Amino acid sequence: MAVTAREFYHLTEGVEPGKLCSGTACFASQASSKTGDGGASRIYCLGRCYEAPAVAGRSGQGVPSVRSIATEPVVLSGLLGPTRGRPALDAYRAGGGYQALQEALDAGSARVIAEIKASRLRGRGGAGFPAGAKWKSVSCAESDQKYVIANADEGDPGAYIDRLLIERDPHLLVESLAIAAVTVGAAHGYVYLRAEYPEARPILERAIAEARAAGILGESVLGSGRRFDLEVFVGEGSYLCGEETALIRSIEGKRPEPWARPPYPTQSGLFGKPTLVNNVETLANVPWIVRHGGEAFAAIGTEESTGTKAVSLNSRFARPGLYEVDFGTPLSEIVNDLGGGLADGDLLGVMCGGPLAGLVPPHLLQTPFSFEGMREIGCSVGHGGIVAFATETTIPALIAHVAEFVAFESCGKCTPCRTGSSQIAHAFARAGRGPDARSRVAMDSSELADLVNALSATSLCGHGSGFGEFLNSVSTHFSEEVVACLR
Ligand SMILES: Cc1cc2nc3c(=O)[nH]c(=O)nc-3n(C[C@H](O)[C@H](O)[C@H](O)COP(=O)(O)O)c2cc1C
Ligand code: SF4
Repeated sequence: MAVTAREFYHLTEGVEPGKLCSGTACFASQASSKTGDGGASRIYCLGRCYEAPAVAGRSGQGVPSVRSIATEPVVLSGLLGPTRGRPALDAYRAGGGYQALQEALDAGSARVIAEIKASRLRGRGGAGFPAGAKWKSVSCAESDQKYVIANADEGDPGAYIDRLLIERDPHLLVESLAIAAVTVGAAHGYVYLRAEYPEARPILERAIAEARAAGILGESVLGSGRRFDLEVFVGEGSYLCGEETALIRSIEGKRPEPWARPPYPTQSGLFGKPTLVNNVETLANVPWIVRHGGEAFAAIGTEESTGTKAVSLNSRFARPGLYEVDFGTPLSEIVNDLGGGLADGDLLGVMCGGPLAGLVPPHLLQTPFSFEGMREIGCSVGHGGIVAFATETTIPALIAHVAEFVAFESCGKCTPCRTGSSQIAHAFARAGRGPDARSRVAMDSSELADLVNALSATSLCGHGSGFGEFLNSVSTHFSEEVVACLR
C-alpha cells in the first residue's frame, strides 16, 4: 500500500475539542494519568503548560504572567505594558514598530548582515546555530527566487514562547521576516504554524493583512521598490515538522521526513531554492539588533551565548509564566526567584528546552543558563521551555514518557529511533508504572548503552540523537534510579 504524506500527520482532522494534552508539562502535573494519553490523535503540546492539565478548545487562565529581569527586554518588550500585548498595527507603530525595517532598507543588506554577525545571535529553535552565518549564506546564494520561513512549529512540549510572541505581538514577527527577506533577497515568506495553536492563526493573518494594507508588505516594501509577501502555513500535527528539512517538505506537500544534509536549505531549500529558516524567537531579536547595533546585543549575556532568552515555566512552579532573562543567569534564579520554586512537593529536577534536553537535578541549579553552561552538565538550552518535576514523578516513569513521545513522533527512517524508542518506552513503562513498582526493565546497562550509542551514531536528525542524549543525561544525573530498575 502506498504511503501518503497525509498519513504522516496526527491531526489531519484538526484538534479535537476537549482532548487533554499529553505533553511533558501536563505529564509533570500528573494530568496524563487522568487523560489516558493514547490514541492516534494524541496531542503533545497545546502550549498552555502554565495551566496544566491543558484541554483543547478551553483556556483557563488566559495569558500567564509575563516578566523580564533581563538587562533590557529584547523579545518580550511588547508583552510587558499594561495591555500585555500590541496586536494592532497602530499600537505596534506607536512603540517604534517598523522603524527597524526602514533602517534595514536604508542600511542595505551587507550592513544588516554585519550587525547580525556582530551580535553573535544564535538560533533559539534548539540548535544554537549562528544566525549571521545563515543569513550571509542565503544572501550570497545565486538564485532567481529565495524564501524566508519562520519556524513557529514550537514542538517542544513545555514551550509556549513563540505562541505568546505571535498572539500578543504579531507585527514583531512580520517586521522581523520582512527585514530578513529584504536582507537575503527573498520575495516570499511563510510562517509555519503548528495546528495546536488555533488562536494564533487569525491574529497573525490579521497582522499580515494590516501590514499589506499599509504598504509594509507587498509589491513595494515601505515604498522601497522591494517586493515581499508572507503567508501562514498551518501544520497538521507532527513534532518532526519542526525539523527544518521536514518542515520544508511539509510546505511542498511531500511526506515530511528529514533529509540528509548537504544540501543545506540555505543552498537548496523550499522548491529547491535558497531558503532561510529561523525560529520565531530568533527572528524577534532582529529589529532590536538593527536599531541598537550588534555590539550592544553582544554586550548582554555571555561570551558564547549573547543576548537574552525567553523561558516558559510550567504549572508546577508557584509562579508559572513567560520570563526574559540574560543568558548566563543561574538556573536557580529562574527556578526560585522568578518561578517561586515548586507550588507544592519536593523538586525532582527541571527539564530545560524540551523532553530531549535532559533533567537538571536540584544540586546543579547554580548552572548558568547558557549554551555552554548547559552543555557542561550534559543538558541543553533547547527552545527554553522549563518544566519542573516533583518527586512524585519517578525516573523510570519519566523515561517511559519521553520514550513514548519519541516513538509516537519518530518518522521511522532510522531503526534505533523507530524501534529502540518503543522498546525503551515499553520496558520502562513496566518499571515506572506497573503494579509492582520494583519490577525491573528487561534490559541491562550495557544493552542500554549500546542503544544510546546506536541512536547517536545512526540518527539522521536530532529526534533520535537527542533521545540518546536525554538517556545519557538521565543516566548520569540519576544513575542510582536508572541502575536500580535495570536487569
Ligand atoms: C526533531 C526536531 C524538531 C524541531 N522542532 C523545532 C521547532 O518546533 N521549532 C524550531 O524553531 N526549531 C525546531 N527544530 C530546529 C530546526 O531544525 C532548525 O534548526 C531551526 O528552526 C532553525 O532556526 P534557528 O537557527 O533560528 O534556531 C527542530 C529540530 C529537530 C531535530
Ligand atoms: S532520527 Fe528518528 S525522526 Fe529523525 S529521521 Fe531518523 S527515524 Fe526519523
